[in-house]
Amino acid sequence: MNTVILGALWGDEGKGAVVHHLSKNFDWVIRFNGGANSGHTIYRDRVKYVHSLLPSADFRNEKIKCFLGSGMVIDPNQLLGEIVEASRTFPKVGERIYVDPDVVIVTQEHKDHDRRKNGHIGTTNRGIGPAYVSKVSRSAVRLRNVDPDEDVIAHLRHYGVKFMTPLDLKEELLNSNLLFEGAQGVMLDVNHGTYPFVTSCDCTVGGVLASGFGFVGIGEILGVTKCYVTRVGEGPFPTEATDIRVAGMIREVGHEYGAVTGRDRRVGWLDLPALRYACEKTGISGLVLTKNDILAKVDEEIPVCIGYDKTPTSFSDFFDAKPKYLTVYPWEKADLSDESFRTFIGLIESYVGVPVKYVTDGVDENSFRSLET
Ligand code: IMP
Ligand code: MG
Repeated sequence: MNTVILGALWGDEGKGAVVHHLSKNFDWVIRFNGGANSGHTIYRDRVKYVHSLLPSADFRNEKIKCFLGSGMVIDPNQLLGEIVEASRTFPKVGERIYVDPDVVIVTQEHKDHDRRKNGHIGTTNRGIGPAYVSKVSRSAVRLRNVDPDEDVIAHLRHYGVKFMTPLDLKEELLNSNLLFEGAQGVMLDVNHGTYPFVTSCDCTVGGVLASGFGFVGIGEILGVTKCYVTRVGEGPFPTEATDIRVAGMIREVGHEYGAVTGRDRRVGWLDLPALRYACEKTGISGLVLTKNDILAKVDEEIPVCIGYDKTPTSFSDFFDAKPKYLTVYPWEKADLSDESFRTFIGLIESYVGVPVKYVTDGVDENSFRSLET
């Protein structure tokens, strides 16, 4: 069943690990939005890898192909760098990488502009916003318009990278199992996130269609959230922890530092109104709850936001939201046999109206568990 994995909140929910684990059940892993602003952290045989442009496919499995869709914005030199790096462990990995030639190019000017003008948003300075500005203002360069003799394109071809659109691959894609890997999260979406403190692309399922995959059909949309929440960069964060001691502890135990920029992530509590808003906006049909081992290490009651003074129906409602909390007991093991954890899952499901289908811990790639019976 074709499946879309989305960040449900402000990114960094652990999508990389989820995609990595699930990818063995799929023929293709497809990125459709964002660019090198994302940092998808993967633990493979307990070694840490961070992919920014490459999909988080399990490269140990040689049957999985990767696609970079036209809804992304790509710096070809950065892509080459990631492929060269991955090739050290997986020598022929480039042959499994397909890039839509209609994708928009990120240039050095885009990055310079980002650094000069977008500090107040706390962007990643990867030129993402300015590249999307070029796109919508109809002045962008698409990959297919880059001189094929340019070094970087020649190098990508040398590594085996292919340049094809989804329709060039139509027959194969229609007969394949597709896993779409979203970047960032619904609350950073340019339409429905906390505008203007957002990224510049579609972080909802809309991005899959924006990349031209309307012909394949989508079976399931999984939203990924941690059992607490983090946010990097500026902007509203209704459930941000006010106790800097607890926030600092979770940041340290959960390694909550930006994968791309190294910045401290802001830490807060699970925000059920925001989660329900995100699920409803983008049609999430199942949740994946990650990093459950981190709160198991916290030795005090855990706040969960179970409502604001007003139910959010617009991005603007997050700017002055007044959260109400309930506390739950920390669990020993993120397992349904643990009563505290069961209570926590029950609270999420009853408030959000979407089942929690999978749970996973942080670093251990074997900790992924299905809750479906
Ligand atoms: P930009 O995407 O670099 O333009 O940054 C816009 C906002 O989105 C900033 O607050 C960034 O910190 C945030 N952001 C962008 N990409 C990610 C991501 O992959 N994870 C978390 N936050 C992100
Ligand atoms: Mg990240």
